Amino acid sequence: MMTETVYLNGEFMPLEQARIPVLDRGFIFGDGVYEVIPVYSRHPFRLPEHLARLQHSLDAIRLANPMTDAEWTRLINDLLARHAGEDQSIYLQVTRGVAKRDHAFPRESKPTVFMMSSPLVTPAQDLVDSGVPCITAVDYRWLKCDVKSVSLLGNCLLRQSAAEAGATEVVLFRDGHLTEASASNVFVVRNGKLLSPPKSHLILPGITYDVVLELAAACGVPIELRAIPEREVRSADELWVTSSTKEVLAVVALDGKPVGSGKPGPVFKTVHRAFQEFKRKIMRAAA
Ligand SMILES: Cc1ncc(COP(=O)(O)O)c(C=O)c1O
Repeated sequence: MMTETVYLNGEFMPLEQARIPVLDRGFIFGDGVYEVIPVYSRHPFRLPEHLARLQHSLDAIRLANPMTDAEWTRLINDLLARHAGEDQSIYLQVTRGVAKRDHAFPRESKPTVFMMSSPLVTPAQDLVDSGVPCITAVDYRWLKCDVKSVSLLGNCLLRQSAAEAGATEVVLFRDGHLTEASASNVFVVRNGKLLSPPKSHLILPGITYDVVLELAAACGVPIELRAIPEREVRSADELWVTSSTKEVLAVVALDGKPVGSGKPGPVFKTVHRAFQEFKRKIMRAAA
């Protein structure tokens, strides 16, 4: 295995040497939060927004932020400088640290801070051109989906059902309405209008979700953020999933039935093009 440098509790070290005690509450309870930050041309994308979402997650689990935004920024830039790739994916995780096993918070604990970088793998051009199949499921996760928690068992089980069905993602419905997918936000196009559920405790406030809405608005696409009944998803003209690593990806089949024409639609093509152009602009500015 290639030696990769990671950050753990104040030190950079080879991945193989990074160890956490078994009583870490992240391991025992999934008591922690995380972020995934894409890096384009060695430039962290929307870093202030990712750090604001990290703060939101930490506040939600009542864990003090172990670092200021300036310290996070310095550390993230330091980690990415230790890796050769132009495009990287920075993963960071903060847990409530090591304590005797007890569900209630320990009186004192030192948060565990871990960061690693992997090459950023965005969808290959043929997937962008062909679109991807997805399945659907009932969203049985907890009611704090706005928290980017490392307790991802629900998401993992759902995603595994997609993997076993040969699908890229699983589109979720709660009480008959669209929420999101196991690791992506979901957009619907009907009659030329772009629809998505508004931000709430039922979905993760995706950084890509915001970018897509900004770009769609700039392209003159009408937008409506509202509750979307399942039947409107099943009869959509277009369906997309978005995330930091998937960017914007067209869903062309849902539960084996074609979505719209069964091909990536015109609104997708407009917004996907705008997304790629937006990235190129950032890269030029960073160069
Ligand atoms: C459940 C869930 N929803 C949405 C997203 C998309 O968020 P972002 O665009 O910030 O990557 C993710 C990303 O991992 C996710 O796990």
